[in-house]
Amino acid sequence: MTKRALITGLTGQDGSYLAELLLSKDYEVYGLRRRSSSFNTGRIDHLLNDFRHDKNAKLFLEYGDLADASSLARLLYRLHPDEIYNLGAQSHVHVSFEMPEYTGDVTGLGSVRILEAVRESGVRATIYQASSSEMFGSEPPPQNENTPFHPRSPYGCAKVYAHHIAVNYRESYGMHVSNGILFNHESPRRGENFVTRKITQAIARIHCGLQKKLYLGNLDAKRDWGYAPEYVEAMWMMLQQDTPDDYVIATGETHSVREFVIEAFAHAGLDWEKHVEIDPVYYRPAEVDNLRGDASKARVKLGWTPKVGFDELVRIMVDADIESLEERLRRGEEYIKSS
Ligand code: NAP
Ligand code: GDD
Repeated sequence: MTKRALITGLTGQDGSYLAELLLSKDYEVYGLRRRSSSFNTGRIDHLLNDFRHDKNAKLFLEYGDLADASSLARLLYRLHPDEIYNLGAQSHVHVSFEMPEYTGDVTGLGSVRILEAVRESGVRATIYQASSSEMFGSEPPPQNENTPFHPRSPYGCAKVYAHHIAVNYRESYGMHVSNGILFNHESPRRGENFVTRKITQAIARIHCGLQKKLYLGNLDAKRDWGYAPEYVEAMWMMLQQDTPDDYVIATGETHSVREFVIEAFAHAGLDWEKHVEIDPVYYRPAEVDNLRGDASKARVKLGWTPKVGFDELVRIMVDADIESLEERLRRGEEYIKSS
């Protein structure tokens, strides 16, 4: 029988790759869409176009919001999904310092609203909660499922709450809820204000003569960067297990922001030191200095291993941004902006 999945955060980076994965497995996919004054479906338009005139459509968008419990409950009663992936969040760490309450509401309480809607409706779905390596904060690497949490941002605090409440619903009500503690994962669909994409988009503009300078914050922070399409496979694998559990998903390698900059500029044949300037506006009140995950448990129990390494990830992102900008310039869509 066709399986039905509900994804919150469908319009984000991970939601779009997860939708592709589930559709390729013949799922019926329902995604939460926030009301917005402008279109927010750019990452899934290619999927919607495929299905727009197809009476066998398998991808559906539903208005709702993680801050609005009644919209979630209504969806659960109506859809009865087999699997729920809670990826929706105010996911930007720096922004969370400016909007701590909103971040706590959506990223933290949003998860309990989903769990309550499942409990109330009696839907027997398996549930994925998007936990984060940001929860480890200042704990030294390598971080694994037994590493204590020491969040360093309102976003990290909200994710710790969401993580613990997921475990609590598992223990209290026997619900099949799994936490994926994912380390940073990137792609050409990465949000434009996360550091990797900010760098690769700037490189494309510099390459095309549209920009001269790129302003960044802390170049010394280290992250364990993987490739997003591989990480959504791990999410799906977690929900196919007989018992729910928590898993770290990571590459096991760490690189500084500076290394990403050097590698990315070099790949485009540019001298980074001519273009990169530091602007303290991008420093955070508290920083997570060094993330490197140990994903042994996922390797053994799920059979999940990452394939795309750091250099390849950088190349994929730089090439995609240059190609996409050149294409837009050819079509006359881009207008000249100086930095
Ligand atoms: P993203 O690109 O920022 O996408 C976030 C999604 O959440 C978007 O679809 C967004 O909708 C939606 N959203 C925001 N506020 C919402 C609200 N109030 N109600 C419903 N939906 C809302 O994030 P991502 O990189 O795909 O990450 C997916 C999840 O994994 C997030 O929970 C993130 O915190 C977590 N995570 C990410 C990483 C990573 O490295 N990418 C690592 C660990 C954990 P709009 O499109 O309308 O903005
Ligand atoms: N965004 C941004 N912009 N970060 C910068 C900049 C800049 O101009 N300059 C330096 N950085 C540094 C940040 O200080 C941080 O140490 C590092 O680059 C990575 O920042 P982000 O790309 O914004 O990601 P993040 O690690 O804070 O958070 C991401 O990963 C988490 C998992 O660890 C997000 O995707 C979170 O949602 C996710 O949970």
